[in-house]
Amino acid sequence: TVELPAAAVEAVRRADWVTVFTGAGMSAESGIATFRDAEVGLWERFDPAELATPEAWADDPALVWGWYQWRARLVRDASPNPGHLALAELGRGRTVMVVTQNVDDLHERAGSEVISHLHGSLYSPRCSNCGRPYDGTDAEPDRAVHELRVEPPTCPVCLSAVRPGVVWFGEALPADAWSKAEKAFAASDVVIVVGTSGIVYPAAALPERAMSAGVPVIEFNPEPSALSSQVTHSIRASAAVGLPALVEAVTPPQ
Ligand code: APR
Ligand code: ZN
Repeated sequence: TVELPAAAVEAVRRADWVTVFTGAGMSAESGIATFRDAEVGLWERFDPAELATPEAWADDPALVWGWYQWRARLVRDASPNPGHLALAELGRGRTVMVVTQNVDDLHERAGSEVISHLHGSLYSPRCSNCGRPYDGTDAEPDRAVHELRVEPPTCPVCLSAVRPGVVWFGEALPADAWSKAEKAFAASDVVIVVGTSGIVYPAAALPERAMSAGVPVIEFNPEPSALSSQVTHSIRASAAVGLPALVEAVTPPQ
């Protein structure tokens, strides 16, 4: 069982607008490795942080494309966990705006409306040159199980390589995703932070700003994060355990 501070439960119960800010820990109990965990198998000799850069793409596009194809396959074969489902449930009684750093689609598949994918998505490849969205019908995620390198497809218009629709280190966040996230945080009565180390900026500035503005911030993370000492309530529970407990606590008995 999870110890939920009464004030945290009350803040969520009273809130009309809730922003939920999620990171890789949100999907950990769906079997998706967090970004800073050691990767297993095929990719264990690579540092994920070294693949998520414009330099890695320039050096070896097929290696980078293969890695994202492999990740897309893992997500395709995974399911939303009870934490994702609890957030969708929370949204039935109030406005819940999900701002995620995750590139998976598990919030959507659980039934949440995700207003912002701050770091892009595994499912929005685009041309690396002209930026046109690529429909991805000839993506081959299964090949990435056996092969490190998978050649990226080419843009039908300009014949340049198609790149993953994710934000790499050193790249700007998509402007529309960022402005939607800022508005959501500004409009919220309470912010719930789930499964993020809170060290990657500018994303991590969003909950920090909410705290400066006096908005209660509730964190769920089994480990202390960079945000833990600043948040209003830091709850040592995993997403799949803590979020269902919170939603049950704020839901009036039938
Ligand atoms: N439930 C909740 N939190 C969890 C769980 C769980 N089951 N398991 C792990 N965590 C926590 C960890 O304690 C850690 O604080 O999730 C966090 C994961 O941290 P990171 O791997 O750093 O992921 P994230 O914060 O999402 O990274 C931010 O960095 O690499 C980039 O673009 C990438 O979006 C990513 C960004
Ligand atoms: Zn193009």
